[in-house]
Amino acid sequence: MKKVIKILGLVLGGVVLLLAGFCGYVAAVGVPTYDPPSVPKINVAVTPERVARGEVIAQIQCMACHADKDNRLTGKHMDDVPPMFGTIYTKNITQDKEKGIGNWTDGELLYFLRTGIRKDGSYAFVMPQYPNLADEDLMAVVAWLKSDRFPVQASKREPQSSELSFVSTLLTHTMIKPLPYPPSFIAKPDTNDLVALGKYTADAFGDCYACHSGDLIKQDKVQTEKTEGYYGGGIELVGEKGQKIITPNLTFDEQTGIARRYTKAQFIQAVKGGVRPDGSILRYPMAPKMALSDREVGAIYEYLKTVPKINNDIAKKTAELQLAQK
Ligand code: HEC
Ligand code: HEC
Repeated sequence: MKKVIKILGLVLGGVVLLLAGFCGYVAAVGVPTYDPPSVPKINVAVTPERVARGEVIAQIQCMACHADKDNRLTGKHMDDVPPMFGTIYTKNITQDKEKGIGNWTDGELLYFLRTGIRKDGSYAFVMPQYPNLADEDLMAVVAWLKSDRFPVQASKREPQSSELSFVSTLLTHTMIKPLPYPPSFIAKPDTNDLVALGKYTADAFGDCYACHSGDLIKQDKVQTEKTEGYYGGGIELVGEKGQKIITPNLTFDEQTGIARRYTKAQFIQAVKGGVRPDGSILRYPMAPKMALSDREVGAIYEYLKTVPKINNDIAKKTAELQLAQK
């Protein structure tokens, strides 16, 4: 008996030592770096069509995280990130050659937006990657970044640097990894197929699933529908006043989903205008997606009808949270 306990003790001690060693290693190396990539040699032509389309995507994506209070992309504090992940600032991505990204080639930008890897091999893991965006749409974003639009004009302003928590760093050694550069061309969806258009709008650049699913970390960015609790809501985010806000369940579950409350027109009004059918305003971090067309948002509604229903009562969870906070 004593021997068994001794062996158990040794094994446990070994495990603890290994874990401590791993944590020490993670703390020492920080976010891992990768081999400098060979970036595609592509020169993106700046056409008015591309700039216009790039602006739509940028308004939903890049602006939400990178725009300062003057609406320029000089970077800012990401208030909605829960504190356990650290204090995160985005970067200056204006055309300034020194403080911004004026020196990046188009290929470096395309590679970075797909994978999260910079040309020196460093990994910007908080920055979302866009593995499913069509090649043409990704080039539209790059064209917009190179355009004469106000938000991207060169600015020397430098935001503060991020302080990642140990949890964040640990995640980059375990669950969060850069994405591979797509092996082949990614086409735009058939815009006559509303369900396909809806999935593309919601998952490839609307990022609706990233907030409206079950977990902020257990997400599959490539096969988005494999994300934990896909569209069932339940992620705790931080609101404008520092309060916790649980993301709603967007599935068509009869009891707990949005279907019982929204018609398609009301859904479009909520997503684009930020107002619920009862007149209440949707709070930050749910930003009104004015840049999307009615057709695109209507298509998201059609797509959500096809998503497996999840019974997850967010109203109840919110009530419990409010009680606990009192
Ligand atoms: C959810 C917030 C978020 C969104 C949306 C976002 N970014 Fe970022 N981005 C970040 C953060 C945070 C960093 C800094 C990451 C780091 O330093 O590790 C960053 C870094 C970058 C960098 C690297 C800059 C540098 O100097 O290293 C580029 C380029 C960039 N973003 C471009 C974009 C573009 C283009 C879009 C829109 C398609 C976009 N980002 C959307 C959060 C975001
Ligand atoms: C940054 C995270 C985030 C993203 C991205 C996001 N949402 Fe939301 N959404 C929220 C939060 C948080 C709320 C709850 C707001 C509140 O309680 O006032 C919400 C509320 C909503 C509501 C209202 C539900 C209700 O309770 O009546 C709808 C509809 C909605 N979102 C649809 C979408 C769609 C469609 C997209 C993609 C185009 C999207 N959201 C992207 C966080 C997000």
